[in-house]
Amino acid sequence: ESQPATVYDAVGGSETFRLLVDRFYAGVATDPVLRPLYPEEDLSGARERLRMFLEQYWGGPRTYSERRGHPRLRLRHAPFRIGPAERDAWLGHMRRALESLQLPESLATTMWDYFVSAAHSLVNAES
Ligand code: HEM
Repeated sequence: ESQPATVYDAVGGSETFRLLVDRFYAGVATDPVLRPLYPEEDLSGARERLRMFLEQYWGGPRTYSERRGHPRLRLRHAPFRIGPAERDAWLGHMRRALESLQLPESLATTMWDYFVSAAHSLVNAES
């Protein structure tokens, strides 16, 4: 029996990323710390961009870069003030969304470790 070649396939492909990002943004939508940062009234564009990015990052379709170019996440987050409170709020919603998927533990840990390090790398304010 062969193992899926990518995390994208191992976790269930596009359906899984859609669920993850939908649940994550359902949390963001009501978060008093995070919601004001999102420039658009409708979060569907942001949801789509995060989903495409994560699918690509984990070995799925490269639609993100076809539409948006190089990710340059630090640069793209520069307009938003991201301190420890924003980082931790973001990670809290992502953790709940990830847990809701009930993935095998090694996959959940792989994804979670990445989210933690990516979120820390995007902090651009001290408080
Ligand atoms: C975009 C906030 C962490 C990936 C955005 C936007 C905001 C934001 C306000 C603009 C929404 C939009 O696209 O219209 C934050 C905050 C974070 C955080 C407060 C806390 C640390 C992350 C992490 C990742 C990520 C850890 C990746 C794992 C993205 C992507 C976009 C985005 C892919 C769209 C970039 C583009 O193509 O324009 N984020 N973010 N963000 N964020 Fe984050």
